[in-house]
Amino acid sequence: MKPRKILVTSALPYANGAIHLGHLVEYIQTDIWVRFQKMRGHQCWYVCADDTHGTPIMLRAEKEGIKPETLIARVHGEHSRDFAGFHVEFDNYHTTHSPETRHYAEDIYRKLKELRLIKVQAIQQHYDPVKQMFLPDRYIKGECPKCGAKDQYGDSCEVCGAAYAPTELKNPYSAVSGATPELRKSDHYFFRLSDQRCQDFLRLWTQTNDHVPSEAANKLQEWLGQPGENKLTDWDISRDAPYFGFEIPDAPGKFFYVWLDAPIGYMGSFKNFCAKQGLDFDEYWNPDSQTELYHFIGKDILYFHALFWPAELEHAGYRTPTAVFPHGFLTVDGAKMSKSRGTFITAESYLKEGLNPEWLRYYFAAKLNGTMEDIDLNLADFVARVNSDLVGKYINIASRCAGFLTKFFDGKLAYGNVNTLIEAALDSGKTVAASFEARDYSRALRDIMAIADRLNGEIAVAEPWNLAKDEATRIQLHDICSRALHGFYVLSILLRPVLPALTSRVARELFGMHRDFLWSDLADTPHKVSAYQHLMQRIDVKQIAALVAANRESLAPAPEQQSQQRHAEHQADAANAAGAAKVSHGGTPHISIDDFGKIDLRIARIANAEHVDGAEKLLKLTLEVGPLGTRQVFAGIKSAYDPAKLVGRLTVMVANLAPRKMKFGMSEGMVLAASDADGQSPGLFLLSPDAGAAPGMQVK
Ligand code: MSP
Ligand code: ZN
Repeated sequence: MKPRKILVTSALPYANGAIHLGHLVEYIQTDIWVRFQKMRGHQCWYVCADDTHGTPIMLRAEKEGIKPETLIARVHGEHSRDFAGFHVEFDNYHTTHSPETRHYAEDIYRKLKELRLIKVQAIQQHYDPVKQMFLPDRYIKGECPKCGAKDQYGDSCEVCGAAYAPTELKNPYSAVSGATPELRKSDHYFFRLSDQRCQDFLRLWTQTNDHVPSEAANKLQEWLGQPGENKLTDWDISRDAPYFGFEIPDAPGKFFYVWLDAPIGYMGSFKNFCAKQGLDFDEYWNPDSQTELYHFIGKDILYFHALFWPAELEHAGYRTPTAVFPHGFLTVDGAKMSKSRGTFITAESYLKEGLNPEWLRYYFAAKLNGTMEDIDLNLADFVARVNSDLVGKYINIASRCAGFLTKFFDGKLAYGNVNTLIEAALDSGKTVAASFEARDYSRALRDIMAIADRLNGEIAVAEPWNLAKDEATRIQLHDICSRALHGFYVLSILLRPVLPALTSRVARELFGMHRDFLWSDLADTPHKVSAYQHLMQRIDVKQIAALVAANRESLAPAPEQQSQQRHAEHQADAANAAGAAKVSHGGTPHISIDDFGKIDLRIARIANAEHVDGAEKLLKLTLEVGPLGTRQVFAGIKSAYDPAKLVGRLTVMVANLAPRKMKFGMSEGMVLAASDADGQSPGLFLLSPDAGAAPGMQVK
């Protein structure tokens, strides 16, 4: 079999928001497919980049008081960290703000222009006279022309659901400065999609050679309309300064719209990779290329990838995609991800809460079937499935049987009929490979788990734990454990695309290999195992509760945040996601709410405070704690407080700290103070409650 040459991309995430679990549906889906192709011996490259241009990024940087370049550099680091944390392994993770992307954007623009596929036309748009910029629709608000509801967006009303043009809003105002926008005219550059050449090409391209799955092809057919209908309109590819992006070569003050250069970022990232790797870019992008090109995307950006993008490539003289693979959207517990419910979960928080990334990879894989259906992360089901399938069925095989092999047989495996075992493994390999290739991971995992079920059934019947008790049944024990471990070896090979880290440990630690599994290892059998090492924990439901709590925004979001959130859901912008990343984490291990509940914090009145003879750091405090009576506490706050000034004030104490005998007497609790890590600079700050709190009240 000749190895295929395959180039794979995932959509480029916006550089102004954090990666969340919705994003991960896509990157995990793509990563599994790429790992599968690589295991099969194909040359498969996976490239991606941050999508860095546009108004939201420009305004966000301005708000933070930094340059857009600084913002996108920081986010590039955050995104790279999050992807690595979930074992999403790009061959190259670049940025659209790169010389390579600029080069191909200009190149494609020039070629389209030569073919008279670019036109210039003046259009009227809202202009913010204070901010001195044209306003994208999302930055204009006003009263709904239908129902009169206030503070509605430029495209539709959230109260009555009406859709309209931003020019129809009553009393419009700029969401950037609050100023009343003016209508101004300006020249815009358009890609002439309505041109017959584009229409004819797209009609053919979208309906042939499985360029898009049939479900998506139907959608595209609707957008294209019947021949002669000419439903496609020209696409506005320019924006006026100020804009963070690439200036159009022959049009000073005009910039490429972010969606023009975003897909070109796929080429830019690959070009950058080719330079590092010594690969031939043209072999992959020339119009007669024998290589394959696949774009994994969300269904929300199908229009850009299956209409604009192939039309641009075709007419600029490049190859077009072999196929575009759209997937559905993530819901959590059956609903859209929500910050107030705590289900807008960031990649960072998931990892910080100590959850295993391979649990999520497994769960998503079990739900992905290559269609555009939405994928639901049902949190209870997530726990149940990972625990019962991954740990209960798969890991269990090794944890129950490997020990007997090392204990009684020096770790050696013995097979009755090797050929039968290998044949069965190769058969399963074929079936599962076909499912992975077709992106039907759900089916692949069903077949894999059926193998695990059969094996567990055999183990249950043979009862190796009983066989092990009797010298006379050593042969039977050796047989069942060898077959179990061979089965575990096969399952691990088949699961490697989904569980790269875990199966890497299995290959190396359990089977003593010096590399990760390849698909061709199915034709082999392991001969020895090492002592079983613990491989994977079960999920504790408490971890899920903590994850949701960490992502829950307790306060109602400010109106501005709400607007951002709404638009992130519309994928126009993911600025809001950053909000969720600000969950407070001090870098110390998490404790459960139960742990916290063990601490009895109380409001205390300092009834008396005095110096202690011979004590360098301590003050002796007498605290009134309401119903708990009075307490004597020695507090190390002498350096910061004059005792006379403390008398009468309220503070917070730990009331159930075990009393401690000190040199100067008993200390019956502790008062709370803030300080730097060293406890000295810039000082110590005793806590005090807001007005109204009374001694003895609980703090929780
Ligand atoms: N920057 C554009 C893509 C440009 S590609 C040339 C963009 N960025 S995004 O950050 O909003 O989304 C990146 C990818 O993640 C998209 O394919 C999008 O569909 C996907 N998802 C974002 N939220 C998602 C869910 N909640 N569920 C599933 N996929 C989601 O779009
Ligand atoms: Zn309305």
